[in-house]
Amino acid sequence: MGKDLADTMTATTSNDVGSVTGSSPAKSVNLGPAAALASKESGAEIPLAPEFVSPDDFSPLEVVYDFGAVRREDIEAGPRSIWRYKKLLPVPPNIEEHPNTEPGCTRLIQADRLAAELGMRKLWIKDDTGNPTHSFKDRVVAVALAAAREFGFRVLACPSTGNLANATAAAAARAGWQSVVLIPSSLERAKVLTTAVYDGALIAIDGNYDDVNRLATELAAEHEDWAFVNVNVRPYYSEGSKTLGFEVAEQLGWRLPEQIVVPIASGSQLTKVDKGFQEFGKLGLVEPTPYKVFGAQATGCSPVSAAFRAGQDVVQPVKPDTIARSLAIGAPADGPYVLDTVRRTGGAIEDVTDEEVVAGIRLLARTEGVFAETAGGVTMACAKKLLETGKLNPDEETVLLITGDGLKTLDAVSEHVGPRATVPPSADAVQQALED
Ligand SMILES: Cc1ncc(COP(=O)(O)O)c(C=O)c1O
Repeated sequence: MGKDLADTMTATTSNDVGSVTGSSPAKSVNLGPAAALASKESGAEIPLAPEFVSPDDFSPLEVVYDFGAVRREDIEAGPRSIWRYKKLLPVPPNIEEHPNTEPGCTRLIQADRLAAELGMRKLWIKDDTGNPTHSFKDRVVAVALAAAREFGFRVLACPSTGNLANATAAAAARAGWQSVVLIPSSLERAKVLTTAVYDGALIAIDGNYDDVNRLATELAAEHEDWAFVNVNVRPYYSEGSKTLGFEVAEQLGWRLPEQIVVPIASGSQLTKVDKGFQEFGKLGLVEPTPYKVFGAQATGCSPVSAAFRAGQDVVQPVKPDTIARSLAIGAPADGPYVLDTVRRTGGAIEDVTDEEVVAGIRLLARTEGVFAETAGGVTMACAKKLLETGKLNPDEETVLLITGDGLKTLDAVSEHVGPRATVPPSADAVQQALED
């Protein structure tokens, strides 16, 4: 059972977290190559701090770097985790010495059977279900934890659509920190249990994710000693998604794919995969060859896809209604930046119905032996639709990001799959069932 929130609050408020403040640089921090935070709009810089909104123009803040020389050999000699890319992340140089979940280095599978079924030439699945809590969120949380530690925080918190809840609770447990995790009360049972088991403070809120997110922003202002991974330390957290781009490029033999399909919730991951590809190109780690970034949403929560289709720059918030709950963010913070990235690279955004999501999960499982959660079903089904509508080129080398494990969303398939028959323990009965 999780700790009582009141206990946590008492403990955290009495916790001496030194110079952590909501509005000023915490202290002199060592976040490796990270040099400053800059407004995504004006580029105006502030010192590294637990801040997420630019005081210059109220736009989101982004980490800017002062990269030293980074060589392929150094990366290849690094640990089998995202820390092999530490010289490209806002983390201290001795990051491996601090207890963390060591995510990353997940499989890149050559998906020949799926490619054949879809009529594609070369297709890869980046199987991020292999992370410690079975989604890509372990990557972003590991980076957020590293930054939060440098700033002097000792409580890890988040509002979550599910996977982030798992990752935050686990990372806090591993580090010996307290956690405060807020989720919509409608979340899948598996995601609730796989968060609660880490014994932090898990609070279910009667409302959708956007309500929970608003509440988290309010709480972050009240509890300046809580590091909300995707609120007050969001600029650092989101950099963790660059490692998906780095890994794909390294696993392809130090080159970029021609097309990549990425699921969208807040939109952060999509923009950071692009940032990862660009950084690798600029640092000479790969040839900066052209690539297209494609976005995937569920129709029941498709504000970015709708804006893309309408040719708009502004994303109109929606009220989510889809089985892809991990992607159910009706007001995506990085929506406009997703539109920029997709348009700049010549990609597209598609959305699919819940029935198509289930069909996507089953197609991927049947052809490649990869069981994805609903977000993976969205990516798979959108890739199929993008092919059918001629937006994804079947002749170009393509990567699909499968970012979460199907065991977390069993309900999505429970009415569609099951045993072919239940028979007595006899060979004849099995034979009969196989012939039926
Ligand atoms: C499995 C999975 N994939 C993709 C995403 C999208 O992430 P982002 O919010 O960075 O767009 C999420 C978000 O929660 C997720 O849980």
